[in-house]
Amino acid sequence: MKIIKVKNYDEMSDKSAEILASVVKAEPHATLGLATGSTVLGTYDRLVEMYKRGEISFADISSFNLDEYVGLGGDSDQSYVHYMRKHLFCRTDFDLKNTHLPDGAAENAEEECARYSALLAANPRRIQLLGLGSDGHIGFNEPYSPFDGTTHVAELAESTISDNSRLFERLDDVPRKAITMGIAEIMQARSILILVSGAAKAEAVRAMVNGEVNESCPASVLQRHGDVTLIVDEAAAGLL
Ligand code: GLP
Repeated sequence: MKIIKVKNYDEMSDKSAEILASVVKAEPHATLGLATGSTVLGTYDRLVEMYKRGEISFADISSFNLDEYVGLGGDSDQSYVHYMRKHLFCRTDFDLKNTHLPDGAAENAEEECARYSALLAANPRRIQLLGLGSDGHIGFNEPYSPFDGTTHVAELAESTISDNSRLFERLDDVPRKAITMGIAEIMQARSILILVSGAAKAEAVRAMVNGEVNESCPASVLQRHGDVTLIVDEAAAGLL
């Protein structure tokens, strides 16, 4: 794992946007694996700025997101499809028909998982962007998710529900389930870029980088991937 230590969130975002932009410039038809959450917001802002300056275009880029809450569709402000349109897709020249997320509002979530998994199998990702949960989750693969898992309905851990409740009006509004890309599918990306900021994630970073590779820390699986870049700020790197 290549580790880039930076001072703070802003430097992390500068560096990660630079890496993603270099992929988009070199391979204008690339397929990206994208993430949601607070960590990647600064990266998306910088990509939007580069687009506005005419430095990059997403017109021929395809994307596949990691996850979506079960029960939430595009009309919900809390859905990840809404987040992606608001923060990246609709601020740039992404063609919405080339952007993909699991459909949280699908009538049959199991069928939706199978549909999304087949799409992923047919569309290898050039680079997968990841955040890290404070419990070591990637996507919504919580501790003890199998390393060979594909897209599935995940029950969210209590700590994840509480971490993500800041984005909802009430704790009870946070969905208890999500559709998430499985760990095996995350690992299929040719390269992986994982961003971590803040002291609350320091223990998860330690377990991911220096801990044993096992399902108690889903992100520890990344030690087995040949092309992972971790960008970590001083606070999150505190236990390395
Ligand atoms: C969330 C998402 C992940 C995200 C992670 C970190 O629950 N499912 O895709 O990367 O947890 O979130 P944040 O960046 O808001 O800390």
